[in-house]
Amino acid sequence: MIQVGIDKIGFYLPQYYVSLEDIAVRNGVNPEKFHTGIGQERFAIAPHDEDIVTLAANAAEPILNSDDKDAIDTVLLATESGIDQSKAAAIYVHKLLDLPPNCRALELKQACYSATAGLQMACDYVARKPRRKVLLLASDLARYDLYSAAEATQGCAAVAMLITANPRIASRGEISGHYTEDIMDFWRPNARDTPLLDGKFSTMAYLHAAEEAFKDYQRQGGLEFTEFTQYCYHLPFSRMAIKAHRRLSRLNRIAHEAARLEPGLVYNREIGNSYTAALYLSLCSALDNRDDLGGKNIAMLSYGSGCVAEFFHLTVSRDYREMRQKVRHQHLLEARSALSSAAYETFWHRPDLGDIENLTLPRYSNGRFRFTGIDGYQRRYARQ
Ligand code: HMG
Repeated sequence: MIQVGIDKIGFYLPQYYVSLEDIAVRNGVNPEKFHTGIGQERFAIAPHDEDIVTLAANAAEPILNSDDKDAIDTVLLATESGIDQSKAAAIYVHKLLDLPPNCRALELKQACYSATAGLQMACDYVARKPRRKVLLLASDLARYDLYSAAEATQGCAAVAMLITANPRIASRGEISGHYTEDIMDFWRPNARDTPLLDGKFSTMAYLHAAEEAFKDYQRQGGLEFTEFTQYCYHLPFSRMAIKAHRRLSRLNRIAHEAARLEPGLVYNREIGNSYTAALYLSLCSALDNRDDLGGKNIAMLSYGSGCVAEFFHLTVSRDYREMRQKVRHQHLLEARSALSSAAYETFWHRPDLGDIENLTLPRYSNGRFRFTGIDGYQRRYARQ
């Protein structure tokens, strides 16, 4: 049977971060609440000239060569922070990357879950058409109201994946377990640019959905819980994964092993929630921070509020270390600068583009692609 999965994977994030030490001082909160209680150090924040399109294009550009571009006939962009009610953000990215015109491009939505649906659809497609490649993008800006309990769990990033036959990063396991339930733990009505949520309920809903998706995976003949060398979870904040891993370890009557979880948490502690990208950022973190994953299985738990969960696994390719983007990823993290609380609040208030005819945005982004503004109600992007 033909192997399908992730041939290349890389992320991008803007050059600014906010330290949770600073947020703790500003809010009069003990920093240990953030450090230990939610397990986070910093969160990434986008300047006004970055959005889901530029994040995604900046993530994809460094991993694609001209042979890849010629073979891509599908671009899927998963996001919770869509920029248009009609047009898919994938089309802007398709243009910025100069991809072939004989290509389909669309956007996928289900809170933080939709990149996993995209991965499954892309793998099924390349299993049917093994010469084709799919560009799968997960791109989000996670924003919550200033001074809210959720503020410390903001973040942003994009992950780009090239889905192919005979993949050199990891093959997708055939079996996956699912769970869907209509709940109101986190949602964002059309007119709002921050979500409404019941934060504590959302953490319980996540744990319940993770357990149900895992049970479904088991019923369908999935691997035993002990057969995974690494566990990657959707990461709204790293402590959430620790709780989920404890829950699934208890269900399987095995001791919680932090060593099989921690390598996947390293990047999230520095970046924060990136919604659709968060699980795949955890995968990057595990691949970059472990050298012993060749031939091993990684458990993947995807969760999107509302809610949908999926449990599946990846089998890592023997030579994955040659394909990973560790040096570039670590450079992106190290080259960032901290924003003061005042500068953070200025960036947090993004311009309201609801009914704007013309707007030129100041240049902040140092990415290859930036959002330059609005011209005749149309978004404009540029390569710099
Ligand atoms: P909160 O009210 O700030 O926090 O909200 P808390 O008071 O519950 O404290 C958090 C933890 O810190 C607690 O530990 C405290 O004991 C501990 P726990 O009870 O959980 O074990 N703590 C301390 N520890 C050490 N030293 C101290 C200290 N003080 C307190 N001094 C909450 C926390 C997560 C609810 C909030 O940040 C929030 O609403 N976040 C956004 C929602 C969210 O991330 N939910 C996660 C599940 S839903 C999901 O993942 C989907 C999502 O990504 C969206 C999508 O699908 O698109 C969000």
